[in-house]
Amino acid sequence: MGAAGRRASIAIIGGTGLEEMFNVSEVTNVGTPYGISYAISICEVQGRRVAFLPRHGRKHDIPPHKINFRANIYALHKLGVERIIATNAVGAINSNFKPGDIVIPHDLIDFTRQRPLTFYDTAPVTHIDFTEPYCPELRRILIEKAREVGDVHEQAVYVCTEGPRFETPAEIKMFKLLGCDVVGMTGVPEATLARELGMCYATICFVSNMAAGIANRLTYNEVLEMSKRVMPKLRRIVYETISSIPETRNCQCHLSIKLGRVGGAGGAT
Ligand code: HPA
Repeated sequence: MGAAGRRASIAIIGGTGLEEMFNVSEVTNVGTPYGISYAISICEVQGRRVAFLPRHGRKHDIPPHKINFRANIYALHKLGVERIIATNAVGAINSNFKPGDIVIPHDLIDFTRQRPLTFYDTAPVTHIDFTEPYCPELRRILIEKAREVGDVHEQAVYVCTEGPRFETPAEIKMFKLLGCDVVGMTGVPEATLARELGMCYATICFVSNMAAGIANRLTYNEVLEMSKRVMPKLRRIVYETISSIPETRNCQCHLSIKLGRVGGAGGAT
């Protein structure tokens, strides 16, 4: 594989189904200090180098709590990726949301328990700002493109649970009281790790089911069925978003490391 074949500026992290929209030219596994990444496909979309990473593995055999998030995000960074668009299936906690809806979260709450959550376990001590967990520029484009296809919830709080079980009705009631709108198992630490490396990250979620206790018993089949149904819409939004991402970044995401370390605030422009 040539050097250019192993470079990409935009990445899509998602489930199976999205990959078919790309004409894949290269597939690579990248070595990182955290292990080898999952297979990453690289292709060209509208003149842009795009990496596609199926976060549950190519055979969809890795459960949420076993995903090697650090290897995956580090690998994308190593390939040159600056922008990540994630896709996530979510359960709806907000009763104004319904299965099939598109949601672009603006904030998140982390209820994971046992996942390696940072690249910064050693000096220099690094506290990244997470006031705006999702890149505002990517969010703006995702919202704009989603609106062209149909209704979209432009503000939502995403809560990430450890899984792999679904939640109890009492947990969902608690999340509702905390202001959460949707629940999933894979958004954290993906978003955190991307920001830790100064990469832009935003997610496009689709509601696959009403959360536990709001609707009937939950089945994984329900999630898979809905993901098949919304896939054409998702593909279109992702494709149009890739085409509209400006070459250079107009956000602050790349400053995260500098601002997160002693002495960083002074140079923050
Ligand atoms: N809970 C957690 N994760 C999910 C759900 C849910 O209801 N639906 C899809 N992913």
